Amino acid sequence: MIDIRAMAVEDIDRILSLEARTPEAPHWDRAAFERFLVEPDTEDVRHAALVATHGHDLIGFAIARQVLDICELESIVIAENVRRMGIGKALLRAVTTWCLAHGAVRIELEVRAGNENAIRFYQKAGLIKEGLRRDYYRDPDEHAVLMGKGLDSGLWAVENFPQKTD
Ligand SMILES: CC(C)(COP(=O)(O)OP(=O)(O)OC[C@H]1O[C@@H](n2cnc3c(N)ncnc32)[C@H](O)[C@@H]1OP(=O)(O)O)[C@@H](O)C(=O)NCCC(=O)NCCS
Repeated sequence: MIDIRAMAVEDIDRILSLEARTPEAPHWDRAAFERFLVEPDTEDVRHAALVATHGHDLIGFAIARQVLDICELESIVIAENVRRMGIGKALLRAVTTWCLAHGAVRIELEVRAGNENAIRFYQKAGLIKEGLRRDYYRDPDEHAVLMGKGLDSGLWAVENFPQKTD
């Protein structure tokens, strides 16, 4: 069974190993993950870091920073051998559900312009291309596509999100 839970400091070794096997992903070092996990939430900035596990295996993770009412997805990675099984969808749904519960109204992200798989994944979730940031990435140099979506309708997370009845 696949479990989605909060990321812990003890997960970082396995996250770095998964990240190292994923050239398309943003590459954070150990200190960046540690900082993210210990940085306290404030009224304006909140941190969401989730992992997907299967037994003892860590098979994916997602990181988002919520600034005011915008959920900024920093990274989402699924191990190559378990892609196209709905785990990315489950993680993105979990992140956006968390952000909705903390008052977010939009999700936004940047993705490498050449990362067509991720762009299709995000489009399937209902995000649309909203802009281009030229020469945003290094190693290799590449433009960033900006994508976003209101969380009021249409994203996977909203399908099962409890509606207010009053
Ligand atoms: C992008 C990524 C997170 C998707 O995770 P995943 O678990 O494979 O995605 P899911 O199985 O939940 O896919 C949900 C839907 O998104 C779409 N989708 C996902 N990957 C796709 C691909 N490679 N091509 C086309 N559509 C895709 C499909 O519609 C899919 O539903 P379907 O399989 O029933 O057709 C994964 O491919 C990955 O880790 N890529 C490398 C890291 C990366 O690029 N991250 C994003 C930048 S930070």
